[in-house]
Amino acid sequence: MTDESVLGTKSRILDLFSDLNEADLQNIESWISSQSYKKVGDQADCTKENTCHVDEFLYDDQEVDKLVKSGKLSRFYCTDCMSRGINELIFISHSMSKQALMYIFYVLLPNDLEEKQILDVGSRLGAVLYGAYYLSNASSIVGVEMNKDFCEIQEKTLKKFSMDPNKIKIVNSDILERCDIVQNSNIIIINVLDFFVDTEKHKEMWYFFKKYIKKGSYLVSNRSMDETLSALQMSEDMMEWLTICKPNQLEHEIFFDVEGYSELFLYTVN
Ligand SMILES: C[S@@+](CC[C@H](N)C(=O)[O-])C[C@H]1O[C@@H](n2cnc3c(N)ncnc32)[C@H](O)[C@@H]1O
Repeated sequence: MTDESVLGTKSRILDLFSDLNEADLQNIESWISSQSYKKVGDQADCTKENTCHVDEFLYDDQEVDKLVKSGKLSRFYCTDCMSRGINELIFISHSMSKQALMYIFYVLLPNDLEEKQILDVGSRLGAVLYGAYYLSNASSIVGVEMNKDFCEIQEKTLKKFSMDPNKIKIVNSDILERCDIVQNSNIIIINVLDFFVDTEKHKEMWYFFKKYIKKGSYLVSNRSMDETLSALQMSEDMMEWLTICKPNQLEHEIFFDVEGYSELFLYTVN
């Protein structure tokens, strides 16, 4: 076919299509696509399941974007069940990353933590405790974790790496039962707890921390306290309890991609 006759054919097709509504158009389109799967060549891996035929003569990129946004088209399909009704997963971590720990100990907190006790509330696999052990000179490191299985994993890890039991300790308890540890700590690290406690208990925990964390201590959190307390509708009760502070070792910040650490906050307790 010459270019001219292709153009003529396209124009006749457009005439035909101009009478159709959107549903008819989609119907015709899937019919066309069902007629045309290649068996050889660079698109030989196209199948009915993994391929979506979109005529770029009829739908340019912007139109396709609109169809995707409105849910009429999907760019992905499930390789198990072939469904196109899929969504991107949200990935969350219940442990702090190594990078986040380096940022806490090399940028946020003071360099010298001698004579200080660090408490990790809900120590889980022990990430924060190991970070504190290897990245700081804190004299005492305590993890309080209510889940017994996690405590056993942490104990095993301490033994495996011969960490000094006089310096680092795991306590299997609900933190609410251990106000003594909270009172004796100078640095309290809290990774978000929402997944583990209901709203009432979560509120109770913050009132408890406000009561027992001693003045002058540091609180490190991976979500802004403004956000946490306002979500729990307790900002008013907590006003003036904490002051946000700038990192103690700002000179090290250049070694970090700061954007990635905007979710780590350091406060002093008033
Ligand atoms: C998000 S994880 C934090 C893990 C660790 N701190 C880290 O950042 O790598 C929260 C942990 O807190 C524990 N937890 C929640 N509520 C607690 C409570 N009231 N007392 C002690 N542990 C608690 C959970 O079992 C869970 O392992």
